[in-house]
Amino acid sequence: MTISVTEIESQLEALQEEAQNAMALSDTLPKLEELRVVYLGKKGKLSQILRGMGKLSAEERPRIGALANEIKEELQTNLEQQQQKLQQLKIQAQLAAETLDVTMPGVSRSLGRLHPLQSTIDRVIDIFVGLGYTITEGPQIESDYYNFEALNTPADHPARDMQDTFYFSDGKLLRTHTSSVQIRYMENHQPPIRIVAPGRVYRRDTVDATHSAVFHQVELLAVDKGLTFTDLKGTIKEFLRQMFGDELPTVFRASYFPFTEPSAEVDVQWQGKWLEVMGCGMVDPNVLKAVGYDPEVYTGFAAGLGVERFAMILHEIDDIRRLYASDLRFLNQF
Ligand code: DAH
Repeated sequence: MTISVTEIESQLEALQEEAQNAMALSDTLPKLEELRVVYLGKKGKLSQILRGMGKLSAEERPRIGALANEIKEELQTNLEQQQQKLQQLKIQAQLAAETLDVTMPGVSRSLGRLHPLQSTIDRVIDIFVGLGYTITEGPQIESDYYNFEALNTPADHPARDMQDTFYFSDGKLLRTHTSSVQIRYMENHQPPIRIVAPGRVYRRDTVDATHSAVFHQVELLAVDKGLTFTDLKGTIKEFLRQMFGDELPTVFRASYFPFTEPSAEVDVQWQGKWLEVMGCGMVDPNVLKAVGYDPEVYTGFAAGLGVERFAMILHEIDDIRRLYASDLRFLNQF
């Protein structure tokens, strides 16, 4: 079967039109690639038509060859243009999908805040720092020596109630008060001393509305030449005035602690009630001796403040357990 030049020519032209239409309609790069294979690939339609060229005469062949090349180049150009167009569309679609609407309301995140115990500690400490005190800390796991012995509380002392202390099997204990920090600090420093030591303390108390086995204290200690009970009173009264923002009726009630002599407990009248807020006193000479200070040269005063007490008074909290419950309905109020 022979085939005429004009036939091949019209086949080629029909193929070109078909390919151009198909490319123009293709809307994705993979589809376009498929068309490339179908029309311009090694076994594609164009190659198939050119295979028929073998039957043409030597004069006719170059004519068809030139036309075929022209069509091939044109289709190649069409293909590249369509490729570019689809590439652009793809990028545009991507950009549109990734557009941020800056006018949209943001996802709200709730801010954390200080726990009322922490803010109370901060407040107490800020006041004493304002009075010239330095902040220090000590370990919660203590030895008998720092928690009792050096604080003038020997083993047979009645103030040392076994029932109140958590002991470890190695004889160490969970400190029952921050007074242990007094000894640790004095061992490493010389007077004059003005320190506050906040921290967690532990007692084998039965938990109820006013007792917790874990609570917080801020220890106060001043040691210098010539300090008297008047200095203690003045310091505490100034502290209370700043803490409650007012001059409240205050009573220093005689009390007893092994590590102070004389000792007192301080009550303030607040909202019509007398409330005990701390223990305090002049540092016992035995305590000064334990750290190598000469009690004939130096005197000191000390106090231990109950943080929970202050937090409960200031925020009118009725039950100490609320401070440890991690209940956001409670905590969000502060
Ligand atoms: N450590 C005592 C307690 O936990 C409180 C205390 C009383 C501390 C008198 C002192 C002080 O520094 O002088 O009950």
